[in-house]
Amino acid sequence: MTDQRDALTARYGVGDLELKTDLPPLVDMQTRGSCRVFKTESLPDALLNSLAATALASPTKSDLQQRDILFVEDPALRTWINSLFPDMPWIVNAPHFVIFLGNNRRLRQIHQARGHDFANDHLDAFFNSAVDAAIAMSAFITAAERMGLGTCPISALRNHAQAVSDRIGLPKYVFPICGMTLGQPVYPARISPRLGLSHTVHRDRFQDDTILDGIAEYDMRRNKTRPFTSQRNTDRFGKQEPYTWSEDKARQYAEPERADFGDFIRKIGFNLS
Ligand SMILES: Cc1cc2nc3c(=O)[nH]c(=O)nc-3n(C[C@H](O)[C@H](O)[C@H](O)COP(=O)(O)O)c2cc1C
Repeated sequence: MTDQRDALTARYGVGDLELKTDLPPLVDMQTRGSCRVFKTESLPDALLNSLAATALASPTKSDLQQRDILFVEDPALRTWINSLFPDMPWIVNAPHFVIFLGNNRRLRQIHQARGHDFANDHLDAFFNSAVDAAIAMSAFITAAERMGLGTCPISALRNHAQAVSDRIGLPKYVFPICGMTLGQPVYPARISPRLGLSHTVHRDRFQDDTILDGIAEYDMRRNKTRPFTSQRNTDRFGKQEPYTWSEDKARQYAEPERADFGDFIRKIGFNLS
């Protein structure tokens, strides 16, 4: 078993929060990482169904159950999905592709069937179903990793939200929150360092007075163990040394992405006010 103190240090740096390092049941979750290289073997249907059953046992707001899981099985559909992501070859080699859906339609169907007005046609309807679906995806990932499987969420699926929705027959008020690759990993997961816990765990009152120092510390620490292997958009921003996490994220969000997602969500019926 990985030494828990070493794993937490690899993830968060030395840090100034007191942590328990004798909690073996948490080691797997603390040392997890996304998987982008998969064995070709498929998983049995019953295992896929069991992972879905585990994911959907996770908490759901007001027991409303506003999320669904769609397994992509048709080879033609899978080939089409793969073709959407020429820059992400790890999607092609994954034996399974799963789509997590927010579903606010069912609640509206219940209202119609029960003859009660739906009096909550505002942002919360979208938000609750998106959060519910994200919780299910997180639980699916944890369950899959506990079974020794690898996963990688694919939010890039939402770059094609309308086309994907049309292709998989999503009606109004049902939307993809994320795709996910799934299969047996070729390599053990690697720990991806995170910001120091003293900057992301708060007590009683939010404070970020020292966050820029925290980011600088994280940039340096991350470059020692998980340096970036390529630089984003060098045509626009040039090459930079050292190339850091904060530079990468600033470059990423210097480019518009999914600016049409709000329009898509409104088009499928949601009132976002
Ligand atoms: C909501 C969500 C969407 C993501 N979308 C993508 C994606 O489109 N493509 C990808 O390669 N990884 C994606 N990821 C994986 C993240 O890049 C990964 O979780 C992050 O780099 C941290 O690495 P780790 O999971 O190994 O700790 C996504 C993760 C989440 C939670």
